[in-house]
Amino acid sequence: MRTLIKNADVVFPTGIVAVSVLMENERIAVIDPAIHTTADETVDATGLHLLPGVIDDQVHFREPGLTHKEDLFTASRACAKGGVTTFLEMPNTIPNATTQELLDAKLAFAAEKSLVNYGFYIGATPHNLEDLKRAENTPGIKIFIGSSTGDLLVDDQEALERIFAETTLPITAHCEDESTVRANVERYRGIADVAVHSKIRDVAAATIATRRAIDLAVRHRHRFHVLHVSTGEEADILGDYFAGVGEYAGVGADPARRFITAEACPHHLLLNVDDYARLGTLAQMNPSLKSADDNRRLWEALRDGRIQVVATDHAPHTLEEKRRPYPQSPSGMPIVENSLALMLNEVHRGRCSLEQVVQWMCDAPARVWDIVDKGRIAVGYDADLVLVDLHCRHTIRNAEQLTKCGWSAWDGVELVGLPVRTWVRGREVYRDGLTNDAVRGAAAQFDHVRGGYWSSV
Ligand code: DOR
Repeated sequence: MRTLIKNADVVFPTGIVAVSVLMENERIAVIDPAIHTTADETVDATGLHLLPGVIDDQVHFREPGLTHKEDLFTASRACAKGGVTTFLEMPNTIPNATTQELLDAKLAFAAEKSLVNYGFYIGATPHNLEDLKRAENTPGIKIFIGSSTGDLLVDDQEALERIFAETTLPITAHCEDESTVRANVERYRGIADVAVHSKIRDVAAATIATRRAIDLAVRHRHRFHVLHVSTGEEADILGDYFAGVGEYAGVGADPARRFITAEACPHHLLLNVDDYARLGTLAQMNPSLKSADDNRRLWEALRDGRIQVVATDHAPHTLEEKRRPYPQSPSGMPIVENSLALMLNEVHRGRCSLEQVVQWMCDAPARVWDIVDKGRIAVGYDADLVLVDLHCRHTIRNAEQLTKCGWSAWDGVELVGLPVRTWVRGREVYRDGLTNDAVRGAAAQFDHVRGGYWSSV
């Protein structure tokens, strides 16, 4: 099967070029093919931009065990619509994915059900060090240094030291300090206004845990990715690390010797504590939303490279669950279906460039997790592609969401910029509102010998 995409503006790491792209079977075969090249299908993409498919390195897709909220079929359809061609899923399913056997079970579910490509993290517990040391076919190890949805938690210093000292896979973590959160729960007990969530999971909780995790990574010289940075303070800690100042003197300043990366999510970039009044518990997330000033500081950190990745933390719960009174309401919101559109809207607003969006959502996550042949448009790479219309004005509607939970915090919000067609390994999986449910993705390959973001070209 050969598909020729003509007349698109193609986004490469080096810039945007108007050039044709030929996919052959699962791969990108030729860039700028000869004018007489023929194909089984020719797509006239005049006026559209061609991007590598988005790689979302932080999603919660709920299968197995919580499939009333989402499952790998519904979630992957939402991905296809959103231009996300590869997802990396978190281990807080039921059972928690904490052994190779449970990881393999998830890979088998995904092979059967997922329209897009996939990978699954192994979850750390205080007792599964041997499983973490042996794990394979995974992007890495996820530690909940503070608890969130579910019961995964490793807060004990000795257990954390051993994980960082004795494992070799890249590590990533949910950083909110458990004792700070617990103390704040007592302090604010009885307050039912969801806005208190940001006082319970406060700036200190995030910064204490992020500092602690970076300290572990630096002392053990272990690759580490900070998930969902939510505060300006954490961005400043990352700045100190990259500048090699203070406690990070001698580390971080030399890009060749760096091993820490970080991520921000659309909700922490675009929403803040003022949104509780409008959204109520729909805006309840872990880490919590912070201030408008934190929004601004996270954008700054993305632009100046202290944060390298944008991912969603897609965390679906049913509307019925979300509408329970706080604190019975669960934390999390679905985003994967709209993340690229939300970021294209920021391109329209002039907050960032399209090239930056591709850098943060496609190229950087592939490099952080050593994903083979993905993340950019290059000959020989997988034909995971998305066509976007930068000028399309559209409104997010709950009724049109493909995520099983059927809602979005951006319901009723008008955006400019929309993914319109998506290909996974050369097969069209989404076009103008319709998914091709017969397409199946494949397991992403992780070549950890590459050494991660800072080692890659
Ligand atoms: O708000 C959140 N919800 N944050 C997390 O880290 C987990 C997620 C979930 O799984 O619901």
